[in-house]
Amino acid sequence: MKRISLVFLTVVCVLLAAIAPARSQRPRDVEQQVNALLAQMTLAEKLGQLQQLDGEANGNYRPEHVELARKGLLGSTLNVRGAQKTNELQRVAVNESRLKIPLLFGFDVIHGYRTIFPIPVGEAASWDPTLAERSAAVAAQEANNAGLRWTFAPMLDIARDPRWGRITEGAGEDPFLGAAFGAARVRGFQGADYSAPDKVLACAKHWVAYGAAEGGRDYNTTEVSENTLREIYFPPFKAAIDAGVGTLMSSFNAINGVPATSNAFVLTKVLRDEWKFDGFVVSDYTSVRELINHGVAANEEQAAAAALNAGVDMEMVSRSYNQFGPKLLEQRKISLATIDEAVRRILRIKFRLGLFDRPYTDEASEPQSLLRPASLSLAREIAARSMVLLKNDRNVLPLPNNVKSIAVIGPLADDRRAPLGWWAGDGREENTITPLAGLKAKVSPQTMVLYAKGSDVTGDSTAGFEQAVAVAKQSDVAVVFVGETHEMVGEAASRSTLDLPGRQLDLVKAVQATGKPTVVVLVNGRPLAIGWIVDNVPAILESWMGGSQSGNAVADVLFGDVNPGGKLPVTFPRSVGQVPIYYNHMNTGRPPEPENRYTSKYYDVPWTPLFPFGYGLSYTTFKLSNLQLSAPRIRSADRLTVSVEVENAGTRAGDEVVQLYVRDVVASMTRPVKELKGFQRVTLQPGEKRRVEFTLTGDHLAFWNRDLRFVVEPGEFRVMVGSNSRDVIEAKFEVVER
Ligand code: GLC
Repeated sequence: MKRISLVFLTVVCVLLAAIAPARSQRPRDVEQQVNALLAQMTLAEKLGQLQQLDGEANGNYRPEHVELARKGLLGSTLNVRGAQKTNELQRVAVNESRLKIPLLFGFDVIHGYRTIFPIPVGEAASWDPTLAERSAAVAAQEANNAGLRWTFAPMLDIARDPRWGRITEGAGEDPFLGAAFGAARVRGFQGADYSAPDKVLACAKHWVAYGAAEGGRDYNTTEVSENTLREIYFPPFKAAIDAGVGTLMSSFNAINGVPATSNAFVLTKVLRDEWKFDGFVVSDYTSVRELINHGVAANEEQAAAAALNAGVDMEMVSRSYNQFGPKLLEQRKISLATIDEAVRRILRIKFRLGLFDRPYTDEASEPQSLLRPASLSLAREIAARSMVLLKNDRNVLPLPNNVKSIAVIGPLADDRRAPLGWWAGDGREENTITPLAGLKAKVSPQTMVLYAKGSDVTGDSTAGFEQAVAVAKQSDVAVVFVGETHEMVGEAASRSTLDLPGRQLDLVKAVQATGKPTVVVLVNGRPLAIGWIVDNVPAILESWMGGSQSGNAVADVLFGDVNPGGKLPVTFPRSVGQVPIYYNHMNTGRPPEPENRYTSKYYDVPWTPLFPFGYGLSYTTFKLSNLQLSAPRIRSADRLTVSVEVENAGTRAGDEVVQLYVRDVVASMTRPVKELKGFQRVTLQPGEKRRVEFTLTGDHLAFWNRDLRFVVEPGEFRVMVGSNSRDVIEAKFEVVER
């Protein structure tokens, strides 16, 4: 009798499970489901949820992953990808483990999965966050169809030091612009509901101040006051959390002596207590174990306790939590409550992701989801709108459609890998349209396109110069593509110089010396010190690493099918010696005066940048005038309307990015000479005038004071509007007590 009833019960349970309604994702129901599942878990299963392990570079999972999944001792993988592979491993976790908790498959989909968009700092140069939202949505759709449900993006690190290779991955040097792009990318990846079959969970990284690495040397220590953390490095993360981001990643660096991965101030006080973030935090790659190198843990046991107690929920790749969790619990160096809270956060996200109801991916949908024509045309559009025209003397650009011959020169003229940047997702070189290919496709059959590589990106050889000079001499115009390789940007790619690597500058000089009209197109991932080129070459286009369609986009811009409207999201220094150099700097007690020795400047170069933040030209000309404020004084609770008239005074339609900056002239602490507090990219027809309007509120005027309170202090404020951070028209207003 007993055996029969057991069998009967089992059958009933299986039948009930089969017809059970899809688990609800309503918040209350999610919490109930999380706690019900948590109550069934053993300690080993709980610690297993905190573990993420690395797949193979080609997307395969490892045999060990199968064993751990079968035992319910693995929470997530990174790099495992492809619908078939993820489904295979997921079936083990869901069908064979005791509690059937699905795995969470993550991957670095930074600026595209198979369709690769411009590097994020390039996309930020569009000053159009809607483009970032759209590119992230395509990336999410392709990634989800490849079995991925989590991307380790957006990267939100503010970067003021272009020696740091990861400046390529974020939105540049400004927190206001960075916050706008960070929130847009979260919306694009996650949508309104990241359980949707074309969305993925996002991850705001790297929490926090990773870009402040001393010397611009990756992974190096950072010393950042709490005021600066809150003014500069926190805002993009707060914007991402307000946009609903589900996860954060702790950063490798130490912050004022405490590694981010064991830093309770940022991980718990700010993130949980102040911001009420209820998602989970994953460590960066082995950053838990690296607490030993930082010298704050003597061994992995101590590292595990430090990270878990500080607030890192999931351990990426190193296994300290799993190896030492039981012992630490026994020794009361961590509590079961801490472990349970970490597991709860992870399960909460897995339920919100709908993983329990939809753990698998439709394998048939993957091929048709990749490289869709609409995705490629979006990649082309964004690449073109991200390009920044830095110089255009004598209107060398746009090139005339009837140009008879064009010389395409340089090591990056036909390189398929560089345009994909360091984080190329699952991008394939064979899908890259290079500038040479794009120009050949663009020109008429009557136009002769001559090509010479001229040099490598690195190395000392000038053997190719002769051929480059020869093709330049045979052409009406020479376009030289120089810059950096993908290995020179991204993680662990800090450079001690911002010069063009190798003999590229000499190649440009040799081509320029032919006397032919010369255009330099930069293919790079960071600001470069290109002073000679700026002084001697008539036309310069910043094309960044523009993604799969960069060649077509470059051709669109060079021939004027797209009028460039991008603006620099990062300052271009004259020399690496000026670094760190950024627009929202303090005034100092001796602001620079060229004629006065005893002021803050350099002996050997002008103190100003080569190109300022927000800078970019157009094939037409724009004029800003008639700056108006809605009142001469306001109370901090009031709103102030600022408006300016923008005119397209040229002969072709174009985009202008109108930028609004504010300065708090006198305050209880030094304040930046200007801070970006608004921007609008507008398209104007020739001769068209438009009044562009901004609204300033107290939040735009407040700052973190000496008591670390976010306050608006009464007094004089300046408002500046311009087409970049240097060339502005100014007005002032007053904030009064009441
Ligand atoms: C790397 C990076 C991080 C990335 C992670 C997984 O070390 O710092 O940005 O998401 O590991 O690849």
